Amino acid sequence: MPSAIRTRRFEWLTPKRSGSPPLYRGPLLETCKHMRMRDNTVLITGGTSGIGRGLAEAFYQLGNQVIVTGRREDRLKEMSGRHPGMRYFVLDVTDAIAIQQTARQVISEFPTVNCVFNNAGVQTRMSFAPGNILDHEAIQSEIDTNLLGPIRVAAAFLPHLAAQSGATLINVSSGLAFVPVERFPVYCAAKAAIHAWTLSLRAQLKNSGVEVVELVPPYVATELGGSGRMAPPSGSAINIMPLEAFVAEAMQGLESGADEVVVGDAKRLVAATSLENAKKVFSLINS
Ligand SMILES: NC(=O)c1ccc[n+]([C@@H]2O[C@H](COP(=O)([O-])OP(=O)(O)OC[C@H]3O[C@@H](n4cnc5c(N)ncnc54)[C@H](OP(=O)(O)O)[C@@H]3O)[C@@H](O)[C@H]2O)c1
Repeated sequence: MPSAIRTRRFEWLTPKRSGSPPLYRGPLLETCKHMRMRDNTVLITGGTSGIGRGLAEAFYQLGNQVIVTGRREDRLKEMSGRHPGMRYFVLDVTDAIAIQQTARQVISEFPTVNCVFNNAGVQTRMSFAPGNILDHEAIQSEIDTNLLGPIRVAAAFLPHLAAQSGATLINVSSGLAFVPVERFPVYCAAKAAIHAWTLSLRAQLKNSGVEVVELVPPYVATELGGSGRMAPPSGSAINIMPLEAFVAEAMQGLESGADEVVVGDAKRLVAATSLENAKKVFSLINS
């Protein structure tokens, strides 16, 4: 039997907690190297909406201790109020000092924290074409949030994660890391950088006991980009995935033990650049 993934039995997961219906009811897979789906202490950046919120609720429904972070305290309060036991910390991932302070606080209150999702992100539409005025603050903020933020969060938590069993760091990139769309040039560049950084991080941490996973979403119906984000034109090759469907597929992918959890239509973008070939060449030049 191949060592990668062996299906043990098809089983429906029953939520340990009552309340809202579970977003995830997938098969249990037995893998040699897989992310634990229960008995974790999970911290998620950007847990106030969209993908972060969806994943936080899915892990909570499975009985994990979940810690959500974000800038909007009203939302964090509302969310933890609706999910008894869920803890929140106000955290802006562009604030390097706050990240270190929060990491210390989290680790002291939750020494079992073993799973960190680098999910917080922003997306800004911009054009470098002649005649357009560039918003330099927006450019800075996009790189700060989408690239430096995850790097800072990883640096703050990795020493602790390396001492935990079943430790996993999950970086949320994007299908646009592989094939960009022109209207989000800085966003796509930052996500491509997250992909490259994740490959190196995984190789550097291979003997540390920390699994490094890249979660690659397609276009998902969330608040990303705010009102400035336009729906793809009708007839466009881009489809929007409902959040619930995204969370269900992402949870199955995380449980499968894949290093890259590529969801929905993001598979088309990843396939276009042949990630498998890139990984083979990565191994060659890093051996
Ligand atoms: N939706 C998509 O189509 C799609 C596709 C590919 C990848 N992704 C990625 O998925 C991740 C989640 O995005 P989403 O679609 O769920 O968007 P979303 O609904 O807008 O959620 C973004 C989250 O990031 C948080 N955030 C933004 N800036 C932050 C900062 N400086 N510090 C801390 N938290 C911050 C927001 O919380 P606060 O505002 O409360 O801080 C919010 O919780 C992002 O990394 C995004 O790039 C999304």
